[in-house]
Amino acid sequence: MITVEGLTKRYARHVAVKNISFEVGKGQIVGFLGKNGAGKTTTMRVLTCFLPPTSGKANVAGFDVVEQSLEVRKRIGYLPETPPLYPEMEVADYLVFVAKLKGIPSPEIRRRVDEVCDRTAIASVKNTIIGKLSKGYRQRVGIAQAIIHNPPVLILDEPTSGLDPEQQREARQLIASLSGDHTIILSTHILSEVEQSCSSVIIINNGEIVAVDSVENLHHRGRANEMVSIEVSGASPAAVRQRLEQVPGVARVISRDSREGVAAFEVEALENAFLRPHLARAVVEAGWDLNELKMVGESLEEIFLELTKSERKEGELAVAQ
Ligand SMILES: Nc1ncnc2c1ncn2[C@@H]1O[C@H](COP(=O)(O)OP(=O)(O)O)[C@@H](O)[C@H]1O
Ligand SMILES: [Mg+2]
Repeated sequence: MITVEGLTKRYARHVAVKNISFEVGKGQIVGFLGKNGAGKTTTMRVLTCFLPPTSGKANVAGFDVVEQSLEVRKRIGYLPETPPLYPEMEVADYLVFVAKLKGIPSPEIRRRVDEVCDRTAIASVKNTIIGKLSKGYRQRVGIAQAIIHNPPVLILDEPTSGLDPEQQREARQLIASLSGDHTIILSTHILSEVEQSCSSVIIINNGEIVAVDSVENLHHRGRANEMVSIEVSGASPAAVRQRLEQVPGVARVISRDSREGVAAFEVEALENAFLRPHLARAVVEAGWDLNELKMVGESLEEIFLELTKSERKEGELAVAQ
């Protein structure tokens, strides 16, 4: 749905985005993650045809952002870092205005405005002046204007920044609810946001992509073998350990803090072994209760910090793909 190839954007002497390439498939929600100044907004402005690339290509929904920018704009909904709202207008009037700008035929405009107000849960403030809305509601109006022409692609630049935790949670739910119908790229400098909202992540640092991966895979970078956390009740820790050590593919069983009646371990797999089904079966067949069984990864935060270390040397091999 989105293809970027060798994209570079230079502002005067400063190169904000350096030869980046990535693809986003239909229906995905991708997190574009990087510190402030990494080049997220610049990339999004190129994708939405607000800035021409210095070199390289970008294609959205089958159209080139430079050669066919009108076609691209029709198929993109864009929430800029600062939503383009008119504080003196009422919400519904503003959305009617945007709908006209986007070329929605007049007889359909009312219905579309009602639909997006329902979708973004702003029906109750339709007749409120935008300037009087809370930041959370304003952000929803920003999303409403982005989806009013029902575009297949949504580009959301830091959609939850400046919101309080409750508003952030609501905004994430709203974005998740849009994901069925739209391909979404959202930028953020907040890791937990990517973990909560996105299926995959593109990490950008100093204008360069340092990783493209699924969130799940990213967790397991840096650790070659699978590590599983397991909690069992109904047997002594020693008995559980002994049983787990016999499971094929287990390299090591490490004790964690066992609570009363619950034996807790981390189990490391041999190379290429996939342990979880075997561990589960061993516990259940022994007649014990399996309280927890999950993969353990390095925290995304550690991985992110590692990938975006500022002292990364020029020309050092990127970890991407
Ligand atoms: N209009 C501009 N003119 C010159 N430099 C800019 C301009 N916009 C952004 N930059 C620079 O480009 C780099 C990337 O900025 P930006 O894309 O806004 O990053 P992000 O959105 O990840 O914070 C930064 O170093 C920023 O200072
Ligand atoms: Mg930005």
